[in-house]
Amino acid sequence: MRYLTFALTKGRLASKTLEMLESLGITCEEMKEKDSRKLIFTNEELKLKFFLAKGPDVPTYVEYGAADIGVVGRDTIVEEGRKVHEVLDLGFGKCRMCVCGYESAAELLKHHELIRVATKYPEIAKDYFYNKKHQTVEIIKMNGSIELAPIVGLSEVIVDIVETGSTLKENGLSVLEEVCPLSARMIVNPVSMRMENERIKKIITDLRTLLREGGRNAD
Ligand code: PRP
Repeated sequence: MRYLTFALTKGRLASKTLEMLESLGITCEEMKEKDSRKLIFTNEELKLKFFLAKGPDVPTYVEYGAADIGVVGRDTIVEEGRKVHEVLDLGFGKCRMCVCGYESAAELLKHHELIRVATKYPEIAKDYFYNKKHQTVEIIKMNGSIELAPIVGLSEVIVDIVETGSTLKENGLSVLEEVCPLSARMIVNPVSMRMENERIKKIITDLRTLLREGGRNAD
């Protein structure tokens, strides 16, 4: 049996994923060692390997088959546009991709003005404004703290992730339009999906059952 390799997004998404896998009896003790500098972790018994990566790199590892399975936010999957199969909504990491700004910018959006849009997600912003809204805008790629852009006058609006909404609120900004809902997704390499169909399908089915049961318990 060959190893199945998981690429997990460093941080909260990885912790939540490992928690879910653990409920299915898929554990990785090696990963729990706090001060370890190891980059890749193995479960010899189940022939599984796990590694942590930055979100935008997860679909890359999966497209090239360096990982068979990945867990990453839908924002990153859409932005990166890699050839991977999105197989499961894991139901956590829920948030929204939104157009945000000062309330006064709502008029500019309404009248399809040529505005500047700051974002960490230029592909998502381009698709939204050009293909869905048919509005010509100038997109400015930034790398973080996007909410600063309208405050310091870099752009009229931003396209960014809104989770609780507190970053916007504390800075006097609002959601002006919603682009799409987001959550953590499982992705699979298309060749692995064929070659390791049975093993991968079992993981997906078991996770789906777990999610369904979790949902029922929450009711
Ligand atoms: C994300 C996002 C918003 C914030 C939204 O930023 O870009 O800034 O979280 O969360 P909230 O609605 O709960 O306030 P992140 O903390 O990932 O850092 P970044 O600004 O560097 O992208």
